[in-house]
Amino acid sequence: MEKTIIVTGGAGFIGSNFVYYMLDKYPDYKIICVDCLTYAGNLSTLKEALKNPNFRFEKLNICDHDGIKTLFEETRPDIVINFAAESHVDRSIEGPEIFVDTNIKGTQTLMEVCRELNVPRYHQVSTDEVYGDLPLDRPDLFFTETTPIHASSPYSASKASADLLVLAYCRTYKFPATISRCSNNYGPFHFPEKLIPLMIINALADKPLPVYGDGLNVRDWLYVEDHCKAIDLIIHNGKIGEVYNVGGHNEMANIDIVKLILKKLDKPESLITFVEDRKGHDRRYAIDPTKIHEELGWLPDTKFADGIEKTIDWYLSHKEWWQEIISGEYQNYYAKMYGGK
Ligand code: NAD
Ligand code: DAU
Repeated sequence: MEKTIIVTGGAGFIGSNFVYYMLDKYPDYKIICVDCLTYAGNLSTLKEALKNPNFRFEKLNICDHDGIKTLFEETRPDIVINFAAESHVDRSIEGPEIFVDTNIKGTQTLMEVCRELNVPRYHQVSTDEVYGDLPLDRPDLFFTETTPIHASSPYSASKASADLLVLAYCRTYKFPATISRCSNNYGPFHFPEKLIPLMIINALADKPLPVYGDGLNVRDWLYVEDHCKAIDLIIHNGKIGEVYNVGGHNEMANIDIVKLILKKLDKPESLITFVEDRKGHDRRYAIDPTKIHEELGWLPDTKFADGIEKTIDWYLSHKEWWQEIISGEYQNYYAKMYGGK
């Protein structure tokens, strides 16, 4: 059956992968991307999607109530999926305000418009970071959907606040929403300020690879397409008012990821440079995905060994995509964040 889906933040990393996933899987769906194109949003990422008559792009800020309402009135979406966010922890430490505006106020604005127009379904793309972190010496512990919210950074606090608003709307207004909390994603179109693309790009240029602290912090990596598959299942079969954790049991220390990338690119480990730690740095993330597996049948398809290979190949064959990004404002960002470290 034909559906109209609004994808906010669809010019970013995960949102764009989701746009391509949905256009491919549902040729009769209309996909509308709402994105205000911050530094992290890139229209060239959507170049192929823009050729598809079922895809439309609208440059709009999710905090712009009237603009969003006009678009929703015209297009009458069946489902709104909110990927739009300020997403980088390090930037949130430097300047938290925009994180409050976009991640909290933007979410609330979208939900208000959905309520005003009786949009049948809303999905909030959240993160495992809302649970805070786990100790390294307790490998038996995992985040479940009932783990208390315990955010560490302004970024994760803003995402946690948005989650609380979504759940409050569900209870108070019977708002038809679901939430997913996923672990670290990697894959094509990942903005090069994040660990994996930054290390690939620096290694290719024989530049130092800045590893925070002792490099032993653990993240639980999931190939981005598996996250898209989980969201697809939740929006179609998930229960209203529920939270679903998404993760593939692939915990790795940062230093091991960095060494693996160097090995794959045939570059020396002498490029690794240990730098000052991130403030409030979360030690370990680890998702228990039992609920989404048992209720919706979700399991990841891509093993890390294959996913990282595909990702490195993608960065090697899409140099024009990331070279354009790192030639602009990114240089100032890099000098500011890493210059003194
Ligand atoms: P990203 O930074 O790559 O993309 C964010 C997109 O949102 C950009 O296209 C940007 O232009 C857009 N945007 C920002 N502010 C906006 C606004 N006010 N109005 C409209 N558009 C706006 O982020 P990502 O890594 O793709 O993350 C997408 C979502 O998934 C976020 O909500 C993030 O919290 C969540 N998430 C990310 C990961 C991860 O590993 N990257 C893991 C779990 C959850
Ligand atoms: O867990 C999900 C989250 O994953 C998402 O909610 C966030 O949007 C996403 O950015 C990501 O957050 P992280 O902080 O885990 O990702 P990042 O790539 O910034 O860092 C991953 C790890 O690598 C972290 O322990 C910090 C470390 N790191 C990062 C950078 C950029 C370094 O050691 N050096 C670096 O230069």
